[in-house]
Amino acid sequence: MKKLVVMGQGYVGLPMALRAAAVGMDVVGLDSDAALVERLNAGRSHITDVSVDELRQGLDFGYSASADPTCIADADVVLVCVPTPLHRDGGPDLTAILDAAGVIGRHVRKGTLVVLESTTYPGTTEEVFAPLVLGDQWAQGEVMIAFSPERIDPGNQVYGVRNTPKVVGGLTSRCTEAAVEFYGILVDTVVAAKGAKEAEMAKLLENTFRHVNIALVNEMVRFSNELGIDLWDAIDCAATKPFGYMAFRPGPGVGGHCIPVDPAYLSHRVKAELGYAFRMVELAEEINRAAPLYTATRALELLNDRRMAANGARILLLGVTYKPDVADCRETPAMPLARKLIDWGAVVSYHDPYVPGWRVSPGRSLNRAADPYEAAEQADLTILLQPHGSYDLARLAASSRLLLDTRGVVTASGVVRL
Ligand SMILES: NC(=O)c1ccc[n+]([C@@H]2O[C@H](COP(=O)([O-])OP(=O)(O)OC[C@H]3O[C@@H](n4cnc5c(N)ncnc54)[C@H](O)[C@@H]3O)[C@@H](O)[C@H]2O)c1
Repeated sequence: MKKLVVMGQGYVGLPMALRAAAVGMDVVGLDSDAALVERLNAGRSHITDVSVDELRQGLDFGYSASADPTCIADADVVLVCVPTPLHRDGGPDLTAILDAAGVIGRHVRKGTLVVLESTTYPGTTEEVFAPLVLGDQWAQGEVMIAFSPERIDPGNQVYGVRNTPKVVGGLTSRCTEAAVEFYGILVDTVVAAKGAKEAEMAKLLENTFRHVNIALVNEMVRFSNELGIDLWDAIDCAATKPFGYMAFRPGPGVGGHCIPVDPAYLSHRVKAELGYAFRMVELAEEINRAAPLYTATRALELLNDRRMAANGARILLLGVTYKPDVADCRETPAMPLARKLIDWGAVVSYHDPYVPGWRVSPGRSLNRAADPYEAAEQADLTILLQPHGSYDLARLAASSRLLLDTRGVVTASGVVRL
């Protein structure tokens, strides 16, 4: 049975490592965070989608976490699932990929398959990752290198590692074949791309598609509101068309590690290589980045209708993670919204079953309501940002003095949508 090392034990790497352990592979989850390694080996999961039971079962199957990269020398396959954030200037930050590739290069042996899974711009695997992995020691093909985009959707109860098709593209056809064979053990469907660049582009196309379509409805909601049209109803009607349409719904902005970040990897690459702009992405970024401010403006309007100022108003934010039923607050649009409301003098509190404490700026944490329904009774305005499954929406509508539903999910009368 294959020996596998999965570098990076976060939202992506840990579920993949546990899936491999479940099918009988000998798996080491390699992470540079020694404290995380200790927690994982003690059976404590840091990810909502991985229950303590699943982690403990993985440990029973033979999974272990480690911070020691010498395990790479024993591996048949190494997967790289490290973060790919943006620099402060908005460009790609490949630091973790470069570090991981350098570490692999120092330990890898002949015949190993090395697959980069981290989202990145087309060309990274061939131009940046492979030279560091191969170093002066190995020729192309002696160590096989491929790219396979990670498609995990945290919180999704239907699609997980096993039943989400996996795209793979190698630097050579032999690399692709090796990657197809490996992933065929783990997932139901493997799709071979023409090469690594096409596999890299497929991931960015998927996320850019979401980004642009979310921006489309986030722009439409503004003028629909002014024209007195219920855009959510129009979307539901459009969604009855059985072909040629896919429903996206407006919201308070985009968040997470993917949608606000990945398209920038592509637009940056286009600009750097070709000198011109990827205009669709730039426009989508502009619109989606403005969505929290639009939400704040809607709050202002609602208070104004009731002869109230934002200054001094008690505003409750419900669900501050970037999507429902996950604990992930990275890039959450709730953050710029909360900051804007605070700037305007509102007394902002929040409730989120997944977020025990929430700091919106250095030294400034918001008050966390113990009970969302009691807090809604007290607040001048409640803003529903994420409809977590545990929220009773009818009760929320009944408890709120004034409810702004940014997701279009509350059907009770008197509730205002974005
Ligand atoms: N989270 C998602 O929903 C999602 C979905 C699809 C794709 N992705 C992509 O997958 C990649 C990983 O994302 P994530 O959400 O799992 O990140 P994460 O921050 O949850 O986890 C990354 C882990 O990698 C570790 N790490 C960093 N540098 C390392 C190194 N050099 N060696 C070993 N470990 C290292 C960190 O300590 C951390 O535990 C990113 O490129 C991301 O864009 C994420």
